[in-house]
Amino acid sequence: MMADLIITIDGPAASGKSTVARLLAQKLGASFLDTGAMYRAVTLAAMQAGVDLNDQEKLLDIAQTCKFQFSVEADKMIVCIDGIDATEHLRSPEVTANARYIAAAPKVREILVQMQRQFAADRQKIVTEGRDQGTVAFGDADVKFYLTADASERARRRQAELAGKDTGQTIEQIQKIIDERDKSDENRAVGPLKPAEDAIIVDTTNLSIEQVVEKLSGHVRGKCSKKN
Ligand code: C5P
Repeated sequence: MMADLIITIDGPAASGKSTVARLLAQKLGASFLDTGAMYRAVTLAAMQAGVDLNDQEKLLDIAQTCKFQFSVEADKMIVCIDGIDATEHLRSPEVTANARYIAAAPKVREILVQMQRQFAADRQKIVTEGRDQGTVAFGDADVKFYLTADASERARRRQAELAGKDTGQTIEQIQKIIDERDKSDENRAVGPLKPAEDAIIVDTTNLSIEQVVEKLSGHVRGKCSKKN
C-alpha cells in the first residue's frame, strides 16, 4: 500500500518544523512523523551501548539489532528501544550533539529511510518532517515544504522551548549549537539538508505558528483541488 497524500517538511534546526507538521497533520486528518526522533533513538541506543560513535559498522549493528518502535500518542511521537519507552531522553543536549554521527552514517540512513517509507505505507495520509524527506525519503511527495527562519529568531524559539528546563545556556550558546548542527547537516555527503528542487520555501521569521500552518494548508488545498 502507498499513502494517498504525502507532505514533506524539511528545514534547519528550530525552524518550527515539528510544531507545524503536527498541527498541519491534525488539520488534514493525517499522521505525523518526526524523523529526527528516529535519528535520536539510534543515537541514544548507541550511547547506552557505549559504542564508539565514529565506528559506522557498530552504529549499523545497533540500528539492525535494537528493536525500535515508533508510535504516535496524543500528537507526540513515542519511541521505544527494546521495549522501553525512551521518549523523555531523546531531546537531551548530549543526544542532540551526538546525533550527527548517526546522521552521517549512510547505511544507517538507508535503514531509517526504509522505516520512514514503511510508516507512510501503513497510513493513508502523512505529514513527515526532517532534513531529507522531500529530497531522499519521498522524492515524489504530493507537496514539499522547506521551512527557514533567521538564525537569531530560531535561537529565540529554541530558548523559549527550553524555558523552565534550566539548561543554563545563554542565547549566544544556543545559537552557536544550532549553527554547528546546521553546518554539519548541510555538509554531509548523504541526505544533506537542502530544499528539494520542487519544494515550496517558506520563511517563517515573521510569521506565527498559526500563520505558517494556514499558509501550508492553503498550498495543500490548492494542490489537492488540482489533483482531483
Ligand atoms: O529534527 P531533530 O532536531 O530532532 O533532528 C536531530 C538530528 O537528526 C538532526 O540534527 C540531523 O542531524 C538528524 N536528522 C537527519 N535527517 C532527518 C531528520 C533528522 O539527518 N530526516
